[in-house]
Amino acid sequence: MENNSEDVSRLRMKVALITGGASGIGEATARLFIKHGAKVVIADIRDDLGHSVCKDIGLDSATFVYCDVTVESDIENAVNITLAKYGRLDIMLNNAAIVDDGKPNILDNDQSTFERVMSVNVTGVFLGTKHAARAMIPARSGSIIMMGSVAGSIAGIISHAYTSSKHAIVGLTKNTAAELGQYGIRVNCLSPYFIPSAFTAKYIRDYPDKYSKVYSNLKGIVLREQDVAEAALFLASDEASYMSGHDLILDGGFSVINPAFGLFARASPIE
Ligand SMILES: NC(=O)c1ccc[n+]([C@@H]2O[C@H](COP(=O)([O-])OP(=O)(O)OC[C@H]3O[C@@H](n4cnc5c(N)ncnc54)[C@H](O)[C@@H]3O)[C@@H](O)[C@H]2O)c1
Repeated sequence: MENNSEDVSRLRMKVALITGGASGIGEATARLFIKHGAKVVIADIRDDLGHSVCKDIGLDSATFVYCDVTVESDIENAVNITLAKYGRLDIMLNNAAIVDDGKPNILDNDQSTFERVMSVNVTGVFLGTKHAARAMIPARSGSIIMMGSVAGSIAGIISHAYTSSKHAIVGLTKNTAAELGQYGIRVNCLSPYFIPSAFTAKYIRDYPDKYSKVYSNLKGIVLREQDVAEAALFLASDEASYMSGHDLILDGGFSVINPAFGLFARASPIE
């Protein structure tokens, strides 16, 4: 007999900590994780927003904790609050990140901006991974997910600092996966393409006209926060139980194509 009821239990009994979960991809992922039975702690610097998102989701499933990921005691505290409230940490989503202005000339890039981006996007991910591992090693299980970007594997898209930071966390993913596998802890990176928004539009020339033709490979489809959340759900769930050390690039095929050649762009479409 066909079963039409949606299975909402892919993360049943699991507890997740999501940095940068007060908005954007982090918020969408928190909502999806909860829909699939998880309890979620949102760790962010945006107090008001974080509290209101948790209230909206439901305080029985979502908890907000103030946490600046560049401050080790904040991350330590966020993990400790998660353990105190729920007794475990199964999923760590290192999602918080910032982006600087994409100044095209390196001579205009300053050290303090570069270091600030690296601090949030790399040191923050390192600290999140370290303290998640502290909680997961005794449990001998866990899934740690770094939020990367296509800028973690290809160049010429966005600033030097952001590109460097997203490449760095792919390395951290592999190295920590190599170490933590002995405790049954999986570590993966999830690397989305651009999600069209007022913010990302400034990085895309001739947006939105060219977006679907040049900057995206899948015709008529644009990436949404929900798509990233679905991929995070997969990496977090037991369905990905043999996946570790992987960089899951979620770009509709964008990064495997060199558009300068364009053989298939010249072919007549099949009606
Ligand atoms: N939006 C995109 O197109 C896109 C594409 C590829 C990758 N990403 C990645 O996805 C992740 C989420 O991005 P988003 O687009 O949802 O951005 P966003 O700005 O909506 O969310 C980022 C969140 O991180 C928080 N944050 C910033 N600094 C922090 C700090 N020091 N400590 C704790 N929290 C902090 C912010 O308050 C915010 O809530 C990032 O890692 C980003 O690099 C985004």
